[in-house]
Amino acid sequence: MAKQIIWEPGTTFKDWLLLPGRIRREVTVDSVDLRTPITSYFSKEELTPDQLPEDVFVMNMPMLSAPMQSVTGSDMAIELAKTGGLGVIFCSQPIDEEARMVADVKKYKAGFVTPDVFSPQTTIAEIAAHTRKKGYSTFPITDDGKPDGVLIGLLTGKDYSETRHMHLTAADRMKQLGELVASYEDEIGGDLAKANEILEDSHHGSMPIVSRDGRLKAMVFKRDIQHHLQNPLELVDSEKRYRVGAAINTHDYAERVPELVAAGADIIFIDSSQGFSDYQEGALRFLKETFSNIPVVGGNIVTEEGFDSLVNNGAHCIKIGMGPGSICTTREKYRMGRAQATAVIKLNERRQQYLKEKGVYVPIIADGGIVTNDDVWVALALGADAVMAGRFFARFDESPPKRTELRAVRDGMPYTADVKPYWGEGSERAQKWREKRYGQSNETEGVEGAVPYAGHLNESMPRIINSIRTAMQKGGFRNIYELHANAVLERESESSRTEGRPHDISGSGVWSNYSVW
Ligand code: IMP
Repeated sequence: MAKQIIWEPGTTFKDWLLLPGRIRREVTVDSVDLRTPITSYFSKEELTPDQLPEDVFVMNMPMLSAPMQSVTGSDMAIELAKTGGLGVIFCSQPIDEEARMVADVKKYKAGFVTPDVFSPQTTIAEIAAHTRKKGYSTFPITDDGKPDGVLIGLLTGKDYSETRHMHLTAADRMKQLGELVASYEDEIGGDLAKANEILEDSHHGSMPIVSRDGRLKAMVFKRDIQHHLQNPLELVDSEKRYRVGAAINTHDYAERVPELVAAGADIIFIDSSQGFSDYQEGALRFLKETFSNIPVVGGNIVTEEGFDSLVNNGAHCIKIGMGPGSICTTREKYRMGRAQATAVIKLNERRQQYLKEKGVYVPIIADGGIVTNDDVWVALALGADAVMAGRFFARFDESPPKRTELRAVRDGMPYTADVKPYWGEGSERAQKWREKRYGQSNETEGVEGAVPYAGHLNESMPRIINSIRTAMQKGGFRNIYELHANAVLERESESSRTEGRPHDISGSGVWSNYSVW
């Protein structure tokens, strides 16, 4: 006889409907606040976004991209951070490669950049080689070649020719101090809009910021500033660098974590398909003892005992999901897991109980099974603080796989579609990486497929964010705190779902503009 039999079947996001609240005049679509915490805090109750303590990791938009080879490299993390979300770099790769991806995100600074610097004696050949490796070509030249040396000039890719000047030095080709536009740090005072005005007036594309005694402090680039000014939701750290998460496995964390932290990772995610384990407790204890100042998200779990185990061992946030992923075969293969909406409901209940007992609010992230935009706010309404998605983000240009053309024959007609390859971390393809996520065994738990190509993330994200805000405004919720406090949800029957779509007319989807997207 089993220890417990639960007779109520599990539910998915599509099984729930939100009942509308009152639309309030003061809650406009644009005023809906999507800020959400993903690290725990001491409190007797859940707090509004404005009340959150300063040391809490707050996202400006409640979506994270999954740590998967086919989803999150540095390009995805940068573009998602621009919209207020968070990318989590995958760990199914060598440690130095993951650390490089993290460093690439941190280097791509919104606003004030700590640039690579050269001395006047460095040869143009060395600088050109550095440019080829790093992909950028503007370098301040300081007297001693150190980042905080006295600024004496600036060298850009336009200042030399690779055919004629390779034997010369930076001093021979750089623009001298008098030809530059530069500003004192106490004049700019961290004000990007002011820096932008000076750059716009000067016709220059970049500007060094120096101290009163001429030492280099930072560089600002027009392109970065303009991006920043257009993206008020950007998720940046105290130095205005984009925030990024990094995944670790439960085997090589003692070597991996130090490298990721050194590269600038803002938050660590323990990546496991079954996180209620001795291995994960070991990793959490290591992090607590060795890197107590870096927040850590534990998971994945779907049971109350799993929640307790990870939180008691130091996890600052819990990731929920076993089996809902679009590429996942775990449930089918092992008959193990939990329907995702039910998992969120149960873990939210456990979290509320923990809050009452211990006075600690532990955020929960719903990971997997986000198919359409509506799943995002249903997950939030059920109690999630944020959602993580793989397939949803794999569709965009910024995911690592190359866009390809799928050719097929349908109803005897040739048919082509633009797609992006998408595969699970537990698929055979991902497992070619030596540290198998799913594995003490060689069993796979995921498949490989393709998802429809959806263009640039930065073109679609404003619409996606707008749809989340519109749903919240329609329900009368000003922020995720109010959604948690006031949402009323009702189970939906199969016939209700049919009724809720265009029905009993002909031609919807063919002649009309029917699309929920
Ligand atoms: P999706 O958003 O529905 O595509 O699900 C993505 C999530 O599925 C990831 O964040 C992981 O938690 C999970 N996942 C990733 N790879 C695999 C796999 O190979 N098998 C099972 N689950 C996976």
